[in-house]
Amino acid sequence: MAVRVMKNLIVVGTQWGDEGKGKIVDLLAEKFDVVARYQGGHNAGHTVRLGERKFILQLIPCGILRPDKLAVIGNGVVLDPAALTREIDALEAAGIQVTGRLFLSSRAHVILPYHRMMEKASENTPGKTRIGTTSRGIGPTYEDKMGRRGIRLADLLEPEAFRCQVELCAAEKNVLARALDLPESVDPAEIIEQYSAYAERLRPLVADTAALLAREMNRGRSVLFEGAQGTMLDVDHGTYPFVTSSSATAGGVCIGLGVPPTRIGRVVGVSKAYTTRVGGGPFPTEAAGPEGDKIRERGSEFGAVTGRPRRCGWFDLPVLRYSRMINGLDSVVITKLDVLDHLAEIPVCVGYRYRGSGLIEMPPLASVLEMLEPVYKTLPGWQSPTYGMTEHGQLPQRARDYLKFLADSAEVEVSVVSTGPERGQTMWVPGSKLFQEWSE
Ligand code: GDP
Ligand code: IMO
Ligand code: MG
Repeated sequence: MAVRVMKNLIVVGTQWGDEGKGKIVDLLAEKFDVVARYQGGHNAGHTVRLGERKFILQLIPCGILRPDKLAVIGNGVVLDPAALTREIDALEAAGIQVTGRLFLSSRAHVILPYHRMMEKASENTPGKTRIGTTSRGIGPTYEDKMGRRGIRLADLLEPEAFRCQVELCAAEKNVLARALDLPESVDPAEIIEQYSAYAERLRPLVADTAALLAREMNRGRSVLFEGAQGTMLDVDHGTYPFVTSSSATAGGVCIGLGVPPTRIGRVVGVSKAYTTRVGGGPFPTEAAGPEGDKIRERGSEFGAVTGRPRRCGWFDLPVLRYSRMINGLDSVVITKLDVLDHLAEIPVCVGYRYRGSGLIEMPPLASVLEMLEPVYKTLPGWQSPTYGMTEHGQLPQRARDYLKFLADSAEVEVSVVSTGPERGQTMWVPGSKLFQEWSE
């Protein structure tokens, strides 16, 4: 009899990133055969804690930490070979075999040194809005992709063609660098030498990953799709222009991996029990001041990649409802419930008002989002430790009420609750559809 496998499932951030996707992907990966990234790059930082060991994965899907899984980096990802080889080396040094289990799309675009140069220039242009990016060259690489002048892994593997492309791109960027009066310039020879070495290192890992996934799915293997960033950072649906440059929402899976929509089974959103954001841009429920500071301290809310303090605030139901709509969420995982254990009262944003009227839809303008008045409902806190709990029945009644309020108000089931960074510090919510499918 064939082994029953879960339907292909997307894990997507519902907020502004750092929701705990890494932990949840690692947890759910148990039931899947392949874990695949579909967008973003090494701007992501997905933390997985396994006992004393802590991994912060930037490019490689978290499934790599489970020995029998395959990991795929799709065409929708932008790939910095230096960052990738560092990550491979660090994993292999920690005893995790990567070679033979990680596959890179030949169609993925490559981040080159001049992309970081262009990003720095853009972020420092006087009068221009600073996005507060991760400075990894992500945005300019996607710009070149859409401008049809990008260099892909397939190009990198063709030495002569690669040399011509780099020379052309370098000449173009140097014109820009001079026009913008930048202190740096691009040396094509240096790039060609350095990247040719990366090409040889990465060559055995490069594949037609859309074909690989199709083959795997055709033989009954299941795929877990690992989103990076979050819905509100999506280039189309997020708080534009304060977004990343990729399609972080569930729809990005089809484009970013070449997987048809008909192959997607379920979509699970990951949401913190409160909200955080790194970088600039509107954040309606931000709790600037001592309350936000306390959450930052209790939740260790500092960027996994950049170390920047994350801005902290209250749960935002309009954001979760929007995320449910855009991603078609079947279910939500609530993480970091334990971080709220100390609070006597917990405000939850139930709606927005703008110039005296209630808003039904998410405004497209950052300037409007900045001026919104969140409408709060205050829920009683539980003021007792939930850290590390593993059974829904163990949770204080008020914590269960808090979770139920979020689920009822956003009209989406909560299937998993996380109470600590470790894989085991997690509980299933009995009766949730996802739980039932998992247990089958
Ligand atoms: P990601 O980018 O969505 O994968 O999230 P990050 O790894 O950037 O940030 C989440 C942080 O919260 C990491 O340090 C995790 O180890 C930690 N974490 C995840 N779930 C929990 C939880 O339930 N409780 C606590 N206290 N920490 C958690
Ligand atoms: P994970 O996958 C949180 C934010 C940056 C900045 C904006 C654009 O760990 O959740 P970029 O370098 O992507 O051009 O920056 O997006 N950002 C993230 N914030 N978590 C992330 O990833 C992020 N990746 C990018 O802070 O505001
Ligand atoms: Mg992160």
